[in-house]
Amino acid sequence: MFDPHKIREDFPILKRKINNHPLVYLDNAATSQKPRQVIEAIKNFYENRNANVHRAVHTLSQEASELYEKAHEEVADFINADGIEEIVFVRGTTEAINLVAYSWGLRNLKKGDEVIVSLMEHHSNIVPWEILSKINGFSIKYVGLNDEGGLDYEAYEELITKKTKIACFSHVSNFSGIINDVKRIAKIAHDHGALTLIDGAQSVPHLPTDVRDLDVDFLAFSGHKMLGPTGIGVLYGKRDILENMEPFQGGGEMIREVLFDSITQRCTITWNNLPWKFEAGTPNICDGVGLMEAVKYLRAIGMENVQAHEHVLTEYAMKRMLECRNVEIYGPKDASLKCGIIPFNVEGFSSHDVALFLDNYGIMIRSGFHCTQPLHTIFKLKSSARVSFYIYNTREEVDKFMEALMEIEQI
Ligand code: ALA
Repeated sequence: MFDPHKIREDFPILKRKINNHPLVYLDNAATSQKPRQVIEAIKNFYENRNANVHRAVHTLSQEASELYEKAHEEVADFINADGIEEIVFVRGTTEAINLVAYSWGLRNLKKGDEVIVSLMEHHSNIVPWEILSKINGFSIKYVGLNDEGGLDYEAYEELITKKTKIACFSHVSNFSGIINDVKRIAKIAHDHGALTLIDGAQSVPHLPTDVRDLDVDFLAFSGHKMLGPTGIGVLYGKRDILENMEPFQGGGEMIREVLFDSITQRCTITWNNLPWKFEAGTPNICDGVGLMEAVKYLRAIGMENVQAHEHVLTEYAMKRMLECRNVEIYGPKDASLKCGIIPFNVEGFSSHDVALFLDNYGIMIRSGFHCTQPLHTIFKLKSSARVSFYIYNTREEVDKFMEALMEIEQI
């Protein structure tokens, strides 16, 4: 039985009081809190297992390597990838997207090629492509939104051509929470011979994810938004695509051999097997182990239950927010179209004022652009406030949030 009150007992930080009020943490789209199972796994690693991986024959290094590889296996199973070869550990979603841009894009995109990106993207799925297009001279086409605030699939189909080499979209918008139809996105891209890169930062922590069913070529996501530590994230890539890509960074771990030729005075280098070819240097071993624990925790709950719980909270919160005369919600009003994210403004107040007012009551929400400035331009917004839910949030917390929000309205 899914019981958020029981789940809360695993999260030490939720016992905190802020400004003399029990903490109500509603900024989960920015980062999630960590259960003690993850905190303990990190502590246990440093207390008992710490050694570098894939380098030494001693026991500790063997144990650390085994754990680190197991972490890749756990993540591969979680998203139904075809083995650890398809799971590259990186710092987070941003690094995963940059890896694709520089390893794949630098060599495969040239003048005359096109990249399709949507206007609902987080800056991390816009900026790397803009930077690279200035180096390689390809063009970028932006897909806008439909009336519901979702992706304009018709515009996407009109914009895509045989020149399109990759289509880059988020699965779930970190602004509105709308869930994009990734299968449809991938089918359209593949019909035109293009690849797909999906930003899963807001979807993998909240929805069941099956990369084979979605048929995406790349999927990027972060550990810290799914109960794991910061500094660890994942790039999933189809094995044959990753095989044919050049490495991202050069150094130890990612090589098989570096052979110096005294005649040419040069080194001939061969790459390590997947996924290590993309994990140059000493990796973030401990946080990889922490991520494994987070994935185990989510799997024990069941991702269907995670999604269902957030749906109930989102539907309830939106219903109550829509009853407020001076509160405007952006994006879809139908909770079944989205994950647990609600962007809004209160008339006459800046989003930062709203967030600071709520903070007085121990309620944490985000305000500003949420790294989606182009989307705010489309919605003609100076900024917005945003509540976002996760497994440990409760209906009572929504009530506390609403009480404070109604107080702002009174002002
Ligand atoms: N990308 C994170 C957010 O949406 C930080 O808040």
